[in-house]
Amino acid sequence: RLRVGVLISGRGSNLQALIDACADPEFPAEIVLVLSNKADAYGLERARLAGVTGQVVSHRDFPDKPSFEAAMDGALAAAGVELVCLAGFMRLLTAEFVERWRDRMINIHPSLLPSFKGLDTHARALAAGVRFTGCTVHYVRPAMDEGPIIIQAAVPVLADDDDHALADRVLVAEHRCYPLALRLIAEGRVRVEGERATVMGPAALAGEPLL
Ligand code: GAR
Repeated sequence: RLRVGVLISGRGSNLQALIDACADPEFPAEIVLVLSNKADAYGLERARLAGVTGQVVSHRDFPDKPSFEAAMDGALAAAGVELVCLAGFMRLLTAEFVERWRDRMINIHPSLLPSFKGLDTHARALAAGVRFTGCTVHYVRPAMDEGPIIIQAAVPVLADDDDHALADRVLVAEHRCYPLALRLIAEGRVRVEGERATVMGPAALAGEPLL
């Protein structure tokens, strides 16, 4: 099984979706380490409940970003991590760290990239009046929320949505997409060529076509 490390900063609902997927012995990946830059992240509790090793690497304990990242890198290497999943990890990573994990680190973002990069995605989607938004799982590149797209799901924006209602609807799609993207990678079905990723073979999830 592909050895996965998950980086979080908070609630960890996407981590939970990955934990739940990996609980199936047939799933081709396993989470061997959860790293949080925040000691009070609820995702650490989720890891503990699932019997997954969780560790706090707080950016506040280091004089600069490279030393913070070196600590994370050391923990990931010690655990034999082969793929890093960013799941609500809210620190920007240096180009050096990103390049070290090039094509071995993925992220989930709550919009249809390349639209609405960065924070407050749902409020900005509402302000822009788009009729669809969604989520994207992509390989990480040094520029924020850029990189080869693995899968996306489209989610409708409804007339009376506020950003919380929209975030909740997108989150349901995130929890389907992230385990699916992980499975596709672990099965060797994602090829990255430069700035594009291609998924080989059917990408259906539980019989439903993936939008
Ligand atoms: C998720 O919606 C994720 O897509 C988003 O933060 C939330 C984390 O929730 N990530 C970003 O905005 C990254 N730029 P979670 O901790 O419950 O998974």
